[in-house]
Amino acid sequence: MPDPAQPSGFVSLVSAGPGDPELLTLKAARRLAQADVVLFDDLASGSVLDHAGPGAELIAVGKRAGRPSARQEHVNALLIGHAQAGRRVVRLKSGDAGIFGRLEEELIALTGAGIAFEIVPGVTSASAAAAAAGLPLTRRLTARRVQFVTGADVTGHLPEDINWAALADPAVTTVVFMGQRSFPVMAAGLRKHGLPGDTPALFAEAVGHPHQRLVRTTVDGLAEMMRSAEVTQPGLILYGPLAFPVEPGPSGAGFPERP
Ligand SMILES: C[S@@+](CC[C@H](N)C(=O)[O-])C[C@H]1O[C@@H](n2cnc3c(N)ncnc32)[C@H](O)[C@@H]1O
Repeated sequence: MPDPAQPSGFVSLVSAGPGDPELLTLKAARRLAQADVVLFDDLASGSVLDHAGPGAELIAVGKRAGRPSARQEHVNALLIGHAQAGRRVVRLKSGDAGIFGRLEEELIALTGAGIAFEIVPGVTSASAAAAAAGLPLTRRLTARRVQFVTGADVTGHLPEDINWAALADPAVTTVVFMGQRSFPVMAAGLRKHGLPGDTPALFAEAVGHPHQRLVRTTVDGLAEMMRSAEVTQPGLILYGPLAFPVEPGPSGAGFPERP
């Protein structure tokens, strides 16, 4: 139970976007500037943290934070502890906080501790990848549905209860998060369930970061590429009736300078 003698803190669960600091929302930047403490994941670090005020305490809680204790229960305990001490806490999560971000566990912990919170939505890496590749996620007539799926369960393998009929639907744009390692197995399953191997695919690595890489290929081509690829960066796989109407290029740099 919260101590009524303590000032009540507040937790803002903030979406950091895919990495490009310009894809942070105005609300996210404001919350960072107001925060006393920022708990951030590996993928929600870098220059977005520059928005935090000089006095803010920055705490890395991602997998690379170097502590086995940086597990979910530890993160929950930190959130609750800092909030109960009356601090303004930002919990910074990559992309959109509500997509494969273990948001639910934190909401349950905060609610259980009686701590007020808000969720600040943001730009998921899926939208940023499509935009970087000059690609619409939906297409009139041919892709009336978009599905976001994970290629890894808690063990790191392809989830066993996977819905193959949905994944092999040729009229859907599918975005696979955390799927680089398991994609060769996924692609074999997709073929078995009727998806043609020459279905267009995009591999989007480190979207919004300086070393961003986009590879246009097919489901079979990507499976082949992933068989030997070393996974060093976050990456997304998109496949389906993808339309590549334009070459992504310098047009992504924003408005040209005025003479
Ligand atoms: C734990 S999930 C978090 C997803 C995040 N909430 C979002 O909306 O983008 C991490 C996975 O998201 C994808 N991802 C996140 N940021 C990315 C980026 N900048 N470029 C490519 N993929 C990214 C990768 O598949 C990565 O393994």
